Amino acid sequence: MRHARVIAIDGPAASGKSSTAAAVARALGFAHIDSGSLYRALTWVSVRAGVHDPAVILALAGRLHVDLQSDGDAVRVHIDGINDPESAIRMLEVNAGVSAIAALPTLRDWVNVKLRAASADTSGVVIDGRDIGTAVFPDADLKVFLTATAAARAERRLRQRGHVVDPIELAAETARLAERDRLDTSRAAAPLRQASDAVVLDTTALTFEEQVERIVMLARANGLGNA
Ligand code: DC
Repeated sequence: MRHARVIAIDGPAASGKSSTAAAVARALGFAHIDSGSLYRALTWVSVRAGVHDPAVILALAGRLHVDLQSDGDAVRVHIDGINDPESAIRMLEVNAGVSAIAALPTLRDWVNVKLRAASADTSGVVIDGRDIGTAVFPDADLKVFLTATAAARAERRLRQRGHVVDPIELAAETARLAERDRLDTSRAAAPLRQASDAVVLDTTALTFEEQVERIVMLARANGLGNA
């Protein structure tokens, strides 16, 4: 069976993976999947129900039909009865709990099954995450590892939130991101790391448009794209 063309974009927190992946997918006529959205949806279930046992979380997720659904070119998370799951999965309690949920192997296996099934329904897909090129699609057609210094990522994140970037806030956000990097790279299950065949793109000195353009060029050079 011919599988969908897959572009994997991995990298640390706040490296701009999701917005970059969405823009790359648009340019190529591919679908976009944000794999973190499934870890967040499971975390939302855990927080809402106050349960931590992975088997119970998965049973509840099944009852709520937590899944990826095609919404035009984007593939978005669905939770029964929640009108705006994209907002629900980005609430503070979810931000705080998602690293612990993403460290549980049973839950990672469940997410990976959903990612592979949703990808198979597309002709081409850009998926962003931490382990897409290493664990979920080790045979992806193109793997990109996005990096930027923690300080550059912190500054972008504060600007996105509309904050005036003062040095104390910047130092605090840089420390928070460095700690997330430490958790994501040191966990036992599918830690964040660069695939040996990934193209590394350091975006510290690039604009958003430049980083999208570089990946689109790489994709086209690899014969990828419907548009
Ligand atoms: O990209 P994000 O911040 O929405 O990801 C949320 C969490 O999920 C983060 O702690 C890392 C984890 N994650 C993961 O472990 N593997 C992925 N493929 C995607 C996200």
